[in-house]
Amino acid sequence: MKLIPNTVFYDISAFMALRKVIFNVHASGRKIFILTDSNTRQFCLPMVMEELGDLSQHLVSITIAAGENNKHLQTAMEVWEQLSVHQAGRDALLINLGGGMVTDLGGFVASVYKRGIETIHVPTTMLAMVDAAIGGKTGVDFMHLKNNLGTFHGPSWVFVITKFLETLPSRQYRSGIAEIIKYGFISRPELLKQDLFNIEKSAIQSIIGRCIDAKTNIVQADPEEQGIRKLLNLGHTVGHAFEAMALMKQQDLLHGEAVASGLVCELYISTRLLSLDTEVLDHYIGLWQSAFLRYPVAEEDDAELMNLMLQDKKNRAGKLLFTLISAPGNAVFDIPVGQELIEESLQFYRSLF
Ligand SMILES: NC(=O)c1ccc[n+]([C@@H]2O[C@H](COP(=O)([O-])OP(=O)(O)OC[C@H]3O[C@@H](n4cnc5c(N)ncnc54)[C@H](O)[C@@H]3O)[C@@H](O)[C@H]2O)c1
Repeated sequence: MKLIPNTVFYDISAFMALRKVIFNVHASGRKIFILTDSNTRQFCLPMVMEELGDLSQHLVSITIAAGENNKHLQTAMEVWEQLSVHQAGRDALLINLGGGMVTDLGGFVASVYKRGIETIHVPTTMLAMVDAAIGGKTGVDFMHLKNNLGTFHGPSWVFVITKFLETLPSRQYRSGIAEIIKYGFISRPELLKQDLFNIEKSAIQSIIGRCIDAKTNIVQADPEEQGIRKLLNLGHTVGHAFEAMALMKQQDLLHGEAVASGLVCELYISTRLLSLDTEVLDHYIGLWQSAFLRYPVAEEDDAELMNLMLQDKKNRAGKLLFTLISAPGNAVFDIPVGQELIEESLQFYRSLF
C-alpha cells in the first residue's frame, strides 16, 4: 500500500508541478475534480484557478459545508453523488483543497468510490500541511466518535502552498501548532526550542518540511499503525475524547486545541509512569495556558470521557494503551494506563483552570 506521496512540492514548484500533473491527467482523457469546503472555495480556489490558467476549465468543482461537524457520512454521500452525476470513472482524479476535514473526508470518498480513485492533497491549513495531508489516513466521524469510519488511502502527490496560510484565521493557525509541538515531543525536540507562535515567514516552509519528514519516516516504517506509527497519537487519546465530547455537546473546540489539552493529561501521566521531568510538564502548561483555548471539563464528564477513551482505536483486549514520553524526543507506545490514573490526570487538568 502506498501511503507516502510521490513527492511533496512546496510553493512555486508546487504550482508548477500541479499544472504539469493536471495537464497530463487531462491529456490522457481522465476527469478531474476539485473538492473544497465553503471557506477554501472562497479563499483558496481562486488562487489555484488563476495559477492553472486555461487548464482550470478542465476541473469540476465540488463544495461541501466547512467544519468538523460536517465531517460525516452524509457529506461524503453528497460528494459521491456529485462524482456519479458527473460520471467520474475509476480513472478520475480527486484533488482535495482544504484543511484536514477536506483531506480526511475527500480521501475517504476517493478510497471508496469505484473501489478507489486517485487523490492529490493540497492542504490549506497549518494542521493539514504538517499532519493531516500526510500518511494516508482518511476518515469521517460516526456516532460522535472521531474518524470512526476510515481507510488507508494515500494521495499520489501533496502540494504545500504556504501562501494559503495568509487567509487562515489565527485561531486555526494556532490549532496547527499543537501538532508541531507533538512532533517536538515525540521525535524532534529541537522544534520545541523555537518560538512556534511567531515563526518568521522565511522559516515556515522549513518547519513544515521537518514535520512532514518526521511523519513520513514513521509512516514508512509502519504504514498501517501496527507499532511505531502509534507514536503520532501522543496527546490524541485524551484529545480525541475531548473533541468527541465537544462534538456531542455542540461546543466549539478545534482538533489542535483538543490535542493541546489532551497533551496536558498525557504529559501528566508520563510524569507518573515514565518519570518525565515535571519541569517539562510545567513548561508545557505555561505554553498551553498562553496560546490555546482551554477546554473546560466538569467532574461529571469524567465517566463519559472514560467511555470515549475506551473506544480508542489503539486499545487492545479492553486495555487503554497510551503513547507517553520519558523525555522530549523519547516517546513510547502501547503503555497500559489504569482508569484511576487517567481520572487523576483529568483532576489535575481541572485544577489548572
Ligand atoms: N488523517 C490524518 O492523519 C489527520 C491528522 C491530524 C488531523 N486530522 C484531522 O484533521 C481535521 C482538522 O483539520 P484542520 O484543523 O485543518 O480543520 P479544517 O479542515 O476544519 O479547517 C479549519 C477551518 O479553516 C478553514 N480554512 C481552511 N483553509 C483555509 C484558508 N487557507 N483560509 C481561510 N480559511 C481556511 C476551513 O474551512 C475550516 O473552517 C480533523 O478532522 C482531524 O481529525 C487528520
